Formats: sequence, structure tokens, C-alpha cells
Amino acid sequence: MKTVDTTQHYRFETLPLPLHQLCRFGEKLAVYIKSGDVLLLHGELGTGKTTLVQCMALGLGISDDQYVSSPSYALMHEYEGVNMSIYHMDLYRLNDADDVEAAGLLDYFNEKGACIIEWPDRLGRACPENHLNVTLVEAEPANRKIYLQPHGPDWIERIPQLRKLCAEFQNL
Ligand SMILES: Nc1ncnc2c1ncn2[C@@H]1O[C@H](COP(=O)(O)OP(=O)(O)O)[C@@H](O)[C@H]1O
Ligand SMILES: [Mg+2]
Repeated sequence: MKTVDTTQHYRFETLPLPLHQLCRFGEKLAVYIKSGDVLLLHGELGTGKTTLVQCMALGLGISDDQYVSSPSYALMHEYEGVNMSIYHMDLYRLNDADDVEAAGLLDYFNEKGACIIEWPDRLGRACPENHLNVTLVEAEPANRKIYLQPHGPDWIERIPQLRKLCAEFQNL
């Protein structure tokens, strides 16, 4: 039986979350991530994109000595988890797909790890079909709402998990 309509656009959201809850959300989201995934983190400066990656890294068993810091100056940091790597990219300083390609970042869209990308609008035509949009919005100074929008068959098939995750953060 078909349970999801692949032609529809899905969007799941949380309540406005304080920092510790956003971190819990990141740890739980990380459980659903696999090698080859691409997550696009949207949101203004200071909405918690880097913070969310840090919490996802915790969820993937990345040890404290591989602490995830903002990669703004390095473009990409690789973190080795127990089962897979995270390629954490910050494209803020790049302009477009040509820049992303010239920096060699497209090579990381591979099966060895998951790419989690800040300022993903810079990808332009290099944006893969399968991706999860994660949008952070500052609802109040100390609270952030999170929206998940799956795109492409890889993510459409994980809709039940994404729906369940957000539902958990609708009833706190
Ligand atoms: N509810 C919250 N969720 C995430 N970050 C929060 C929250 N409340 C306050 N903050 C603070 O906001 C800042 C977010 O910074 P950062 O993660 O670097 O943002 P970005 O990568 O989006 O620019 C951190 O200093 C964090 O402690
Ligand atoms: Mg950041």
C-alpha cells in the first residue's frame, strides 16, 4: 500500500525550542541520517545552524576531541563518527555552483559520509535532487522553530520518521 504521495510537498515543524531541546532534536535527527545524505541548513546568521550540527555529531557518536566548530573559514570540516563521517560545510563565502565545484566540495557528495551544509543557496545547480531542507527560524530570542522539508525519493521514504520526530517536539 502506498503511504506517501511523492508529488506532494511535505513540511513538518516543531514548537519554538529552547537550546537544550534543539540539541535533543539534532541528536535524534542524526539517527535517521545515512552515508550519501545531503542536509541543507537554512536560516539567518545566529539561528543555530552550527549548533544543530554539533548536536547531530553527538548523536552520531562523534567524540569530544572531534568537536564540531564553525567551518566558516575552512569551508569544510570532516568528522569521523562510529559508522560514518559528517562533512560539515559552510558556503557563506562562496558565490555559486562554480565556486563550490572549484573548491572541490562536490567530491564530498559521496557514499562515505553525509553532507550537512550551511548557506546551501550557494549550491545553485549543484544541489542534488535528494536532500532534506532544515530551516531554523528565531521565534523568540532564546527559541528556534525547526522546519523539515524532504525532497527526492531518498527522503520521501523517510517521511514517517520525520513526521514522528517533529510530532515529538510538538508536545513538550
Ligand atoms: N534555542 C536555541 N537554539 C539554538 N541556538 C540558540 C538558541 N538560543 C540561543 N542560541 C544561541 O544562538 C547562537 C547560534 O549560533 P550558531 O549555531 O553559530 O548559528 P548559525 O550557525 O546559524 O550562524 C549560539 O550562540 C546559541 O547558543
Ligand atoms: Mg554557522
